[in-house]
Amino acid sequence: MFNYCNIIMLFLLIVRNKCLCDICKTCICSTLNTGAIIDCHNKHLGVNDVLNFDLFTLDQHQPLNKLILSKNNIVLLPINELKNLKHLKKLDLSQNQLDNIHLDIFKNLNDLEDLNYSHNLLWGFDISILNIDSSLSKFNLSHNRINSMERSSENTTIKLKVLDVSHNNLTNLNFLDGLPQLKYLDLSFNKLTILPTKSLFCLQHLKILYINNNHLLDLNLQNFPLSLLELYAGNNFINHLLLQKSSIRILNIQNNRIPDISKNLTLLEGLKDLNINRNSLSGFPDVFLKDLEILDLSFNNLRMIPETVSIKNFPNLRILKVNKNRLKDIKIRSELRLERLEVNFVETIKEISKEAFLMLREKENDCINITISSNKKLSTIEKNVFQHMNICFLDLSNNCFAHLPSELFDVNVNYLINLQGNPFICNCSLQWMLNIIVPKLYLMKPSLLEDLRCAGPSPLTNKRMIHWYKWKGKVFCDDFSHLAERMTVNIASIFDKQVVTFETSPGMIAALATAITLLAILTIIGILLTQRMIAKKRRINRKF
Ligand SMILES: *[C@@H]1O[C@H](CO)[C@@H](O)[C@H](O)[C@H]1NC(C)=O
Ligand SMILES: *[C@@H]1O[C@H](CO)[C@@H](O)[C@H](O)[C@H]1NC(C)=O
Ligand SMILES: *[C@@H]1O[C@H](CO)[C@@H](O)[C@H](O)[C@H]1NC(C)=O
Ligand SMILES: *[C@@H]1O[C@H](CO)[C@@H](O)[C@H](O)[C@H]1NC(C)=O
Ligand SMILES: *[C@@H]1O[C@H](CO)[C@@H](O)[C@H](O)[C@H]1NC(C)=O
Ligand SMILES: *[C@@H]1O[C@H](CO)[C@@H](O)[C@H](O)[C@H]1NC(C)=O
Repeated sequence: MFNYCNIIMLFLLIVRNKCLCDICKTCICSTLNTGAIIDCHNKHLGVNDVLNFDLFTLDQHQPLNKLILSKNNIVLLPINELKNLKHLKKLDLSQNQLDNIHLDIFKNLNDLEDLNYSHNLLWGFDISILNIDSSLSKFNLSHNRINSMERSSENTTIKLKVLDVSHNNLTNLNFLDGLPQLKYLDLSFNKLTILPTKSLFCLQHLKILYINNNHLLDLNLQNFPLSLLELYAGNNFINHLLLQKSSIRILNIQNNRIPDISKNLTLLEGLKDLNINRNSLSGFPDVFLKDLEILDLSFNNLRMIPETVSIKNFPNLRILKVNKNRLKDIKIRSELRLERLEVNFVETIKEISKEAFLMLREKENDCINITISSNKKLSTIEKNVFQHMNICFLDLSNNCFAHLPSELFDVNVNYLINLQGNPFICNCSLQWMLNIIVPKLYLMKPSLLEDLRCAGPSPLTNKRMIHWYKWKGKVFCDDFSHLAERMTVNIASIFDKQVVTFETSPGMIAALATAITLLAILTIIGILLTQRMIAKKRRINRKF
């Protein structure tokens, strides 16, 4: 009898060990001081008998803290297996084919804190099944097909703090009054058209709210709890913004249809980061915001950089963006101290005038980054416009500069300058770039030389300036024929190399033909020019 028992025990042990081994053969098992973790992400467990591990035994052997079953095409949950995992705190069921949430999960897994159901096929959900005893604090329902969330029973107080219902099909928020503890709520990418007055205001602990990418028509800050610190409401159809006293620090209302911002903006006393890009603003209110650090007014209808954006109104402003507006000039009209200014993609400006940046400086004991890039018509810049500033990075790339005054930069310029993508005419007026800018960038950041090219005169078209790095003499000041001669020498040396590979590569025939044609053209140009110069000399000589 004793022996018989022993045999059974031994058998059980073997079975138990076999089970342990099995799941850890398929999945990755590890242990932290919080307990065991089994990671079965993407292990093709969809077929149910593969899922039939003896998790219960495993859990008794060592408390299972986290179970990851994501991306397994699971259609049916192995409820009987799961419901005994009394110690489980985190369960990741994301990226499966689940179309409902089992009541038993919440009834039995009393320690569960974090449940990830994202990327499944849920179409509805009754939050009442999260009963009072549930310790769930983070619940991810994003990327499902939820049309509505219900709350069938009134007497639920749920401890949920983080809820992500983004990327669903929600049209109402009736369920929210059952979730008074929420701190983080993501409702983005749904079909909400209105935010009922009551539903959000009740969330007295809410700090972060995403309602971007819905169909909202207006936004009334009165409807949000005073606890709210970050509000992301971009990509809606908001054309009416009602501002009220609030503790919001980050307000993102980009890509809406807001025509103006009222002076009530000053009621957002703690505002640090305001993003109103892609709206229809034609001005900015004269308001004081002590803490404002970042202001993005890009993609609006501004005709000038607002005078109201000043150090007086925003003593802590660090970053100002006014990209893609209809600016008639680039001029800072009020005293301003920044870490970064961005004026890109403005199609209406042609020049940077002498007074443009007189009012602009770096912040105290700091330096400033100025980005004026991709302005298609910007072709003129006055000398000395940057001289009063301590710049750390200047980006003038992809504008329309054919010429830059040498006085723009000090001979000892020591900051990074991006001048790439401009159609520079590399004549004697730009020789200073070869002398000063190219060697400096070569040492500091060669990548800024990659697309620093000449657009003309024609023999130099598309040549990179680095080509003449350390050349003796003033290359850009050389006369035309001289340059043509040097180019000929270069092409001739390429020609030599190509002869060697001539037989092995048929593609080379084309290249060779091109080279010969080029050589011929350049030689003809050279001859013509020489003749013309001889003629000219003759003419000059004739005078004497
Ligand atoms: C699901 O949620 C858990 C816990 O928050 C997280 O660790 C995991 O990365 C999430 N899975 C996916 C696919 O986002
Ligand atoms: C929810 O899951 C999605 C997709 O797996 C993830 O991108 C998102 O960050 C998660 N949300 C939270 C609040 O963790
Ligand atoms: C979302 O809801 C609309 C109706 O409001 C419906 O036509 C559409 O098919 C739903 N989309 C999904 C993914 O369920
Ligand atoms: C500005 O705030 C006041 C008082 O808080 C409010 O009565 C008024 O409607 C608000 N105006 C706008 C345009 O937001
Ligand atoms: C300024 O430019 C430098 C160099 O590219 C960069 O390291 C720094 O982060 C930039 N600072 C700001 C505020 O953009
Ligand atoms: C060089 O080219 C620029 C732009 O076409 C022109 O304004 C300038 O006068 C030229 N300088 C010389 C020395 O030819």
